[in-house]
Amino acid sequence: MRTIEWQDGTVVTVDQTKLPLETVTLKIRTVDAMAEAIKNLRVRGAPLLGACAAFGLALAACNSRASCVSEMLAELEDAAAILKSTRPTAVNLFWAADRVMDKARDFFGDVEGLKALVFGEAQKIADEDAEANRVMGENGAALINDCDVVLTHCNAGELATVEYGTALGVIRAAWKQGKKIRVIATETRPLLQGARLTAYELKRDGIPVTLITDNMVGYVMSKGLVDKVVVGADRIVQDGVANKIGTFTVAVLAHEHGVPFYVAAPKSTFDLTRKSTDIIIEQRKPEEVTHYGGKQVAAEVEVLNPAFDVTPLKYVSAIIHENGVYYPQDFAKFKSNSPV
Ligand code: MRU
Repeated sequence: MRTIEWQDGTVVTVDQTKLPLETVTLKIRTVDAMAEAIKNLRVRGAPLLGACAAFGLALAACNSRASCVSEMLAELEDAAAILKSTRPTAVNLFWAADRVMDKARDFFGDVEGLKALVFGEAQKIADEDAEANRVMGENGAALINDCDVVLTHCNAGELATVEYGTALGVIRAAWKQGKKIRVIATETRPLLQGARLTAYELKRDGIPVTLITDNMVGYVMSKGLVDKVVVGADRIVQDGVANKIGTFTVAVLAHEHGVPFYVAAPKSTFDLTRKSTDIIIEQRKPEEVTHYGGKQVAAEVEVLNPAFDVTPLKYVSAIIHENGVYYPQDFAKFKSNSPV
């Protein structure tokens, strides 16, 4: 099932803030509405944000009343700037916006031709993500044994991508191969992507899942209850992997307990011209930490709310992608940008 689709000039998706209690269809018709949906996590997850940026530009093109290509190109530049100002950490958003804009800037033809080009590139980005996830799933499933218990953090599932998922794609593929695996999902404070979205997706697919709070990871690993960890990524740089806050803690605990720690991410998540110190970690509003279900639960104190952390590559056992699997011996090449 596709998480995002283009239907007659409208982007159709699901409002992820309402899941799992309500399935509310979200119809996005303008660039500003797309930016609002991204900022407020109605749509989220690195690969899906790439598709959202691309379809956001398609909305700008579709809604344009420009009478010439240079006027429309200026509108697209403004739209790209709006979309790129929404969330800073997942590189897919920037990668997709730049990919569409590079094509648009090189275009020769009329306004209708430019509209078709922008929409066509957006659709291609979405289709490629769906395909990459299926192939990645197969590549990663080879690392999962029958009866493994796999821990995952946040939601790197169908909802975080155009289709199928990255980390959950690996889990889905292993399950489809007949491996009787079980999943431990962390709730993922403060916005509960694990409890709300990962648990929902796995339950819907009939894959056994046990939910834990984030601070139980050390306990379950110390009891030998976890065989593998598979997570997604928001940006893979020369020396580390940015992913949902708490991933670093899971990785260190996995290292301590000898549990393989795998990252599953498509090439659109790789940003090998940068290092971890270059990554902008999104800081979100304090209310996400101090409030629960709309009610204040914390004392009124200063709050820190980084949405992501960076796991150094020394804690990563392998990175699964659509063209294969990188192991620690390959990571050295990341600095020269050669394998991607
Ligand atoms: O803040 P979110 O929900 O957008 O964060 C999402 C994550 O951290 C995911 O693990 C990551 O994007 C990988 S999704 C395939």
